[in-house]
Amino acid sequence: MKNIIDALAKTGFLSLDDFKAIIHCGNAQDTEYLFSKSREQAQKYYGNKIFVRGLIEFTNYCKNDCLYCGIRASNKNANRYRLSAEEILNCCDNGYSLGFRTFVLQGGEDMHYTDDDYVSIIGEIKSRYPDCAVTMSIGERSRSSYERYFEAGADRYLLRHETADCDHYKRLHPDKMSFENRMRCIKDLKDIGYQTGVGFMVGSPYQTEESIYKDLQFIKEIQPHMVGIGPFIPHKDTPFADFKAGSCDLTLKLLAIIRLIKPNVLLPATTALGTIDPRGREKGILAGANVVMPNLSPVMHRKDYSLYDNKICTGEEAAECRFCLSRRVESIGYEIVTDRGDCAAAPQS
Ligand code: 5AD
Ligand code: FES
Repeated sequence: MKNIIDALAKTGFLSLDDFKAIIHCGNAQDTEYLFSKSREQAQKYYGNKIFVRGLIEFTNYCKNDCLYCGIRASNKNANRYRLSAEEILNCCDNGYSLGFRTFVLQGGEDMHYTDDDYVSIIGEIKSRYPDCAVTMSIGERSRSSYERYFEAGADRYLLRHETADCDHYKRLHPDKMSFENRMRCIKDLKDIGYQTGVGFMVGSPYQTEESIYKDLQFIKEIQPHMVGIGPFIPHKDTPFADFKAGSCDLTLKLLAIIRLIKPNVLLPATTALGTIDPRGREKGILAGANVVMPNLSPVMHRKDYSLYDNKICTGEEAAECRFCLSRRVESIGYEIVTDRGDCAAAPQS
């Protein structure tokens, strides 16, 4: 196993067979060796610094009906809310004073907000906090909309590809959504100049080892700045309510493999990982993650942004999460920094 891991660390890729060998490996020493290699790479680019992003979940209205997601349009039990521009800016004010220098505006695909609304919100955030990065995470849009947000000052865009396997994509999404359009969006975002994040769920229904391998090939090919992965967790009001959650162990191994495939990538230890394991985020950092994304949304709405069941941090104020995360990160020898947290320059090859 050690030679497979060494070869992965050296070449930045691995064969399907070697990939399977790593994910089936139950030997704790080998797994620790994998994590030590990925930590080494993370430390090479980012030292012991962990970047924070302030996540503002500003609307849970969504026109889509992804089968896994708790805020899907046909979930009649979702208690819908949307924040006004002023409420969003209040979240940023609070976040700025807590040391956040990146704001992530995430929401369902809510057509209530026009492109003009987004342009004005982005412009206002950038003029109030010129030292901050703005990340948009509002789903699939036209190229011209993406261009307008970018011109208004948005720096980054997160759009998980969800799976790089077209057949798998069809089993996770209704017919109205298409794999081709997802890919088109990701290519447009990169092309326009956004620092772009992709990602997928670990252990989503119908996922196979082969489909995960395609995700890795996709990451290698597209060279995103950020990769968000977390376990799939069922939501009771979705068609996938009875599927089981993805595992923490597999998520950790994939974090480590992704770090070795793209050593300078921004890799969050996600809230979903912290939800399936109380020390999931710490374990994620020890497997090579270097970003955490605590919530800045108003506490009164947090429970309603429930993509999956039992989400953590729904009762805590932004400041509580910020300090809780500092403690957690320090307990494993890392530190959170007040910084935009841009992607480090790529290795010279
Ligand atoms: N479990 C885990 N992650 C989920 N997401 C959506 N629903 C779930 C779920 N049930 C993820 C998707 C989406 C991101 C915002 O949250 O990957 O892109
Ligand atoms: Fe929210 Fe710990 S990060 S309470």
